[in-house]
Amino acid sequence: MTSPDLPAELKAALDGKLRGFSRSDAAGRAASISKTYRGGGNSGTIRTEADALAYAVARMPATYAAVTASLNALVEIRPDFAPKSLLDIGAGPGTATWAAAEAFSSLQHFALLDANDVLRTLALELARDSTRLSNISYERGEARTALAKADAADLVVASYMIGEIGDAEQRALTELMWAKTRDTLLVVEPGTPASYARIIALRDQLIALGAHVAAPCPHDGQCPLQPPDWCHFSQRLQRSRAHMQVKAAEVPFEDERFSYVALTHAPAAHRPSRILAPPDVTKAAVVTKLCTADGLVRATAPRRDKAAYIQARKRRWGETSDSGETDRG
Ligand SMILES: C[S@@+](CC[C@H](N)C(=O)[O-])C[C@H]1O[C@@H](n2cnc3c(N)ncnc32)[C@H](O)[C@@H]1O
Repeated sequence: MTSPDLPAELKAALDGKLRGFSRSDAAGRAASISKTYRGGGNSGTIRTEADALAYAVARMPATYAAVTASLNALVEIRPDFAPKSLLDIGAGPGTATWAAAEAFSSLQHFALLDANDVLRTLALELARDSTRLSNISYERGEARTALAKADAADLVVASYMIGEIGDAEQRALTELMWAKTRDTLLVVEPGTPASYARIIALRDQLIALGAHVAAPCPHDGQCPLQPPDWCHFSQRLQRSRAHMQVKAAEVPFEDERFSYVALTHAPAAHRPSRILAPPDVTKAAVVTKLCTADGLVRATAPRRDKAAYIQARKRRWGETSDSGETDRG
C-alpha cells in the first residue's frame, strides 16, 4: 500500500518554493480560494504564482491522499495492473501524477493537461528535480480540446476536476476520457452528496458503454444507496508545519472525505464487498455496513461468536470484506 502522505521529494519541492513567500500571505490566499470552493466556485480564482503555491500547500496533501487511497483500492482489486502510461486530466499542480508515480513503478510516460497556466507552471517546477517525473509532458488547454489531441493511456485520472464543469460538459468529457483509456479510468472527487451524484452519473454513462467497476463497487449494477445517504470514504493524512500554517490549523492531521470510481474495460476477477462506514461497535455486536454484489447488507458479528467479533472489530471504512455474504444479520 502506498502511503497517503506526500512523498519526500514533493514535500521538499513545495518547501523550497515556499521559501521567500510570506506564509501569512499564503494563508490569506488559501482561505480565499477555499471560500470560493465552498461557495460553489472553482479554481478560476487561482491566477498568480502566489495563488497557485498557496493552493498547492493547502490542498495538495489532501487531494494526494484521496487519490492514493483510491489507487490503493484499485491495486487491491487489480494486483497485476502495471500501467506504462498515465493521462492526468485537470492535473493542476500535478497531484494525481505524483500519486500514480508512487503507486505504480511501472509508469514511464506521464501526460498532464490543464487550462490553468499558473498551476501548470507550478507543476513543472515541482517536478523539475524529480528523478521519477523529470520527463512529464504538460499540455495547457481546455480539457476536451487537449484530450482530443492526446494519446490514449493505460491509466487515465481526473482528480477533483469534474466538479468544475457543467453536466453537459461532463457527459462529453466522460465519453472522451473513456475513449482515451486503454485500461483503467479513475475519477476522484470531494466526498459530498453533489460530488457523489456526479460520480454516479459518470459511472452509469460508462457502464452503458461497456465499462466495469473495479472499485469501490463490487458490482456494475445500480448503486443501492438512497438519499440522503451517499457513497464516500475518508483518508487521514499528516499535516506538515507549512501545511498547518497555511491552513491556520491546530492539529497535525486532517481527514479528507472523498468519493471515487475506478472503471475498467475488462471485468476484475474478484470484487469483494466494500465497507461503507466505520463499523458500529457495541458490547453486544459489531455491525458493518457493506455494499455487496447482492446489494446493501448490515453484517452482524455477535459478541458470543468471539472470533467473528474480533475480526469484525478490525474492519475499517473503505476496506473490502469477503465475509459480508456469510454473516449478514
Ligand atoms: C481542484 S483543481 C484539482 C487539481 C488536481 N487534479 C488535484 O487533484 O489536485 C481542478 C483543476 O481542474 C482544472 N480544470 C477545470 N476545468 C477544466 C477544463 N474545462 N479544462 C482543463 N482544465 C480544467 C483546473 O484548472 C484545475 O487545475
